[in-house]
This record gives sequence, C-alpha cells and structure tokens, in this order.
Amino acid sequence: MLTINLKGKTAIVTGVSSGIGLGVAKVLAKAGCNISGCGTSVENSKAALTFLKAIKEEGTEALYTCLDVTSQQDREHLVNKTSTTFSQIDILVSNAGINVFKGAKDCTEEQWEFNMSLNLKSHWALSKLCKPYLESSNNGVIILMTSNHAYHSIPGCFPYNVAKTAIKGLVQSLAIEWGPKIRTVGIAPGFIDTPGNQKWFNSFPDAKAERQRTINMHPVKTLGTTEDVGYLCAFLASDMARFISGTTYLIDGGRSALMQD
Ligand code: NAI
Repeated sequence: MLTINLKGKTAIVTGVSSGIGLGVAKVLAKAGCNISGCGTSVENSKAALTFLKAIKEEGTEALYTCLDVTSQQDREHLVNKTSTTFSQIDILVSNAGINVFKGAKDCTEEQWEFNMSLNLKSHWALSKLCKPYLESSNNGVIILMTSNHAYHSIPGCFPYNVAKTAIKGLVQSLAIEWGPKIRTVGIAPGFIDTPGNQKWFNSFPDAKAERQRTINMHPVKTLGTTEDVGYLCAFLASDMARFISGTTYLIDGGRSALMQD
C-alpha cells in the first residue's frame, strides 16, 4: 500500500488556530510529523487548545505559540523555540495570511504596507530563518500558501492579489537559489470551506443560496476542505515529491477552468 510517511519529521505550520493551517497541521500529523504551530490566538484559547488536541489525537507532538508573523522578533522566537524543542526543522508551511480587500483606488499606503508585510514579506523572512535547519534535514521543504488570486482576481481584491501573485516569484527564487538541499513549492487554494468563508456567505440575505451558487461554479460541485489542502501539502512535503520544486499548485476544484461569462 502506498502511504505518505513523514514520521520523525518536524514541521512549522503558521496560522494553525483556524482554517487551512489547522487542516494542514492535522494531515501532516496523521502522516507522522511533529508540529510547531502558531497563530494570533492566545496560548490557552479554545483555538489553540483545539489545535493541540487535534495533533495529540494523531499521536505526534505539538507546540503552539501565540505570535505575529510580521514581527522579526516573534519569527525568531518561533524558530528558536521549535529547534530547541524538536532539535530539527524539516518542513515549513508558511500559511498565515489575511484577506486585505480594498481596491486599487481606495487602498491606503498603510493598508498596502500591512498587506505586503503579512502576505508577502513574512513568508520570505520566516523561510530565511528556517533555511539553516532545513539544509540540515534530509529533505528540507518550504511550502508557501498563496491563493487562486495569484492567477485570476476580481475587482476589489487589491492589494491581496498583488502579494499572492508575488509569492509565485518568491517560490521560484527560493527554489533556484536554495536547492538542492531545500525544495520550495507554492500552494494556491481556491474556495476552501473555512469559518471565514462561511462568515462571508452569512453576509448575504440568503446565505444558503449564495453558498449553493458558489458550489455550482465548481466542476467538482463542492467546496474544498482544509484537509484537501493538507493532503496536497503532505505529498509535497514527502520524498515522493522529490522532483517538484519552484512551482505553484492550484487546488480549486476546476473553478478556474470554467469561463464565467
Ligand atoms: P483563517 O483566517 O481561517 O486563519 C488564518 C490563520 O492565520 C489564523 O490561525 C490566524 O491566527 C493566523 N494569522 C493571521 N494573521 C497572523 C499574524 N499576523 N501572525 C500570526 N498568525 C496570523 O484563514 P484561512 O482562510 O485558513 O487562510 C489561510 C491562508 O490560506 C492565507 O494565507 C490565505 O490567504 C490562504 N487562502 C485561503 C483561502 C480560503 O478559501 N480560505 C483561499 C486561498 C488562499
């Protein structure tokens, strides 16, 4: 039987207190990986405890740190704490991010700077801090979370779409400059069924109808789950993906293949 085996590896996963990061952390743990997770929720919050419990249930070890990935001091703290606890870092899944949807005309400089700091710079800066540890691993892997907005966007999603598009370039640079010891891959999720997206459906007068309208835009007639992203992540982090680097994978249920007119 073919199985993805990450036993004995340690992964840093950012943004595990909600959504995709939690799904990714659970799947990596299911494959045998220890997880050092972080997020903005405080350390004894329900969200942090949910993460720790979920990893424990998979039988691997977990750490949770409340921090801000836009702070260099916090990033250093995360990497130091992880390496001290687990003595190694084999995988970085830099996932933490927020929708900054302002529009090209109305976006302020502050909003632009915040977006670039969180949705672009933090991925580069955290990757740099993990680099020596990943190089010491047998198969160091960096996975950067971008978005389907890196390929096609809609009005009003600026400057988020700009940062997410730039992550594809970051993936290429890290892959060509830091290989062969480190592979770097991007994941670009489409519509994933997260609490944030449900909140967005709830903002419509008929949330159920809006959800169904969105589902209908997908050839697979469903939204993605956070675990769907996790399975792709687990594969890309494994030795089975040893020939994959410098590219970004769209995981969107076929939505972008369908013309919207
Ligand atoms: P979410 O809002 O459910 O979770 C975001 C996570 O990131 C939380 O754990 C939060 O604490 C953490 N976070 C946010 N800002 C942070 C900061 N400054 N420092 C440390 N942690 C921080 O978000 P979701 O939907 O799970 O998104 C995760 C990633 O996936 C983001 O990069 C997002 O752009 C991307 N994405 C999500 C899609 C979706 O459909 N949900 C689609 C495409 C991309």
